[in-house]
Amino acid sequence: MDLEKLLADRLTPAFATVAGGPVDPVVRRSQRADFQSDAALALARRLGRPPRAIAAEVLDLAELADLCSAAEVSGPGFLNLTVADEALGGLVSALATDPRLGVPPVTEPETVVVDYSAPNVAKEMHVGHLRSTVIGDAAARLLEWLGHRVLRANHLGDWGTPFGMLIEHLVDLGGAEAARELSMGDLDSFYKAARVAFDADEAFRERSRRRVVALQSGDPATLRLWRLLVEQSERYFMTVYDLLDVTLTERDFHGESSYNDLLEPVAEELDRLGLLRESEGAACVFPPGSVGRDGEPLPLIVRKSDGGYGYPATDLAAIRHRTGTLAATRLLYVVGLPQRRHFEMVYAAATQAGWLAPPARAEHVGFGSILGPDGRMLRSRAGGSVKLVGLLEEAIVRATALARDRNPDLGEVEAAEVGRTVGIGAIKYADLSSDRHKDYVLDWERMLSLDGNTAPYLQYAYSRIRSIFRRAGMAARPEAAISLADPAERALAFELVGFGTVVGEVADSLEFHHLTGYLYRLAVAFSAFYERCPVLRADGPVRESRLALCDVTARVLRQGLYLLGIRTPERM
Ligand code: ARG
Repeated sequence: MDLEKLLADRLTPAFATVAGGPVDPVVRRSQRADFQSDAALALARRLGRPPRAIAAEVLDLAELADLCSAAEVSGPGFLNLTVADEALGGLVSALATDPRLGVPPVTEPETVVVDYSAPNVAKEMHVGHLRSTVIGDAAARLLEWLGHRVLRANHLGDWGTPFGMLIEHLVDLGGAEAARELSMGDLDSFYKAARVAFDADEAFRERSRRRVVALQSGDPATLRLWRLLVEQSERYFMTVYDLLDVTLTERDFHGESSYNDLLEPVAEELDRLGLLRESEGAACVFPPGSVGRDGEPLPLIVRKSDGGYGYPATDLAAIRHRTGTLAATRLLYVVGLPQRRHFEMVYAAATQAGWLAPPARAEHVGFGSILGPDGRMLRSRAGGSVKLVGLLEEAIVRATALARDRNPDLGEVEAAEVGRTVGIGAIKYADLSSDRHKDYVLDWERMLSLDGNTAPYLQYAYSRIRSIFRRAGMAARPEAAISLADPAERALAFELVGFGTVVGEVADSLEFHHLTGYLYRLAVAFSAFYERCPVLRADGPVRESRLALCDVTARVLRQGLYLLGIRTPERM
């Protein structure tokens, strides 16, 4: 448990006695002492008594002897609390001997659907899919570690009118043989060539339109070609996921097409509930709260005027499936901020229809764009969007070169391994350490730097600790007694015991930059400690204690980075 809470629990009954009712003691980290509470000030106004007298009375009543080495009234009526070294050491010991590092599994596990990545069939994965994939994977890892039942949903774009043109283009290229090329990752030229043919040739357009009809009516030959496109694309996406080291598997593909049979029932149910209205030939829901610039209610199109169903209907069907059949209570949609309106309307309509009712709720885990060095949307040299694999390969090449420069002792194989771990880690960390609500600039120099809030810095801190144990020629002994004398040891200890609180908060907010910020502070506190406090050159119990501090720091770094999907190299 974190110290703020521990101290607050001790102060609460004392404040209640003095105030004659419940008072939040608001315990915060402070420069003055370790912690401070200013609750006596607010209470003084309410009771019309001097704040210092109230603070003194609270101190008299509160049981703090085992936790604090000093507890004083200061200034106008603050409570200054200094944590006893033994108490702090005891908390770190409890962490060190706990395989879960002070983060127990949740008492009420939920079923959580994490909808993420979601590229489109026969289309290249671009940097836009990077953020969804990286943030979504961190969310899935974190919630799973906390004991929730996590269902990964890769809502692949595998249906809709473009498939007429894509299938016709495939036919022109020779069918099945040509499809195999796709898994090799030349999706962009395939898609573009199909588009060119479509724009240039009326006969091709006509064939494409007929092909869409054939696809929708379940024509077997057409479905076979469609399935080829989907399978080959999925195979290609899996190679990207492997490179990116994300936990998505083949079983997590739940493309838009998988909801096809549920679309009509969805429309019928909405109609029965009286929620469908006709607008320009389409059957629409007008969810409350969604109005256009002119103040007119905005339609969410359920059935298009041509009788077909599109993206919104599919998402309605997916919600109904996720809360109904899958019994999920938390639905996460890790999708870019431009789709905010779409999700607001879908959630509102699903709520009206009763498919999204407490305890079930849906959250749009939105994110901004990745910008180039010029502060504009990241573009390739040719001006097109940047292919994700290209970006990942560049990261690995750059990181491998840096690893070779820094450590000539690394063999070829190890340098390549480190390059991959650091390169991919750097890309993911750059993304997760930026406030996801905002855009961020892709900056190679900064994200691969060994100084600052970067993956390489944290990975280096980890590998440095591992090298201490290699030099010591021994395994860690987490059960060693921890004694904290030096201020740098105490500062490190305060960071260590804060892990659980950060993890809990991030599980709610899914703002991973708070976790990266925490890990960075921990690594900084570690390096200050390591500079001041000799470890291997110390003797007896001090050496044991410091080695245990090193070990638990390494484990928190490793676990924290694992939750972000980032690996920790043993040496680099
Ligand atoms: N395929 C879509 C795109 O690339 C993202 C799908 C997001 N998930 C969802 N349930 N709508 O924009």
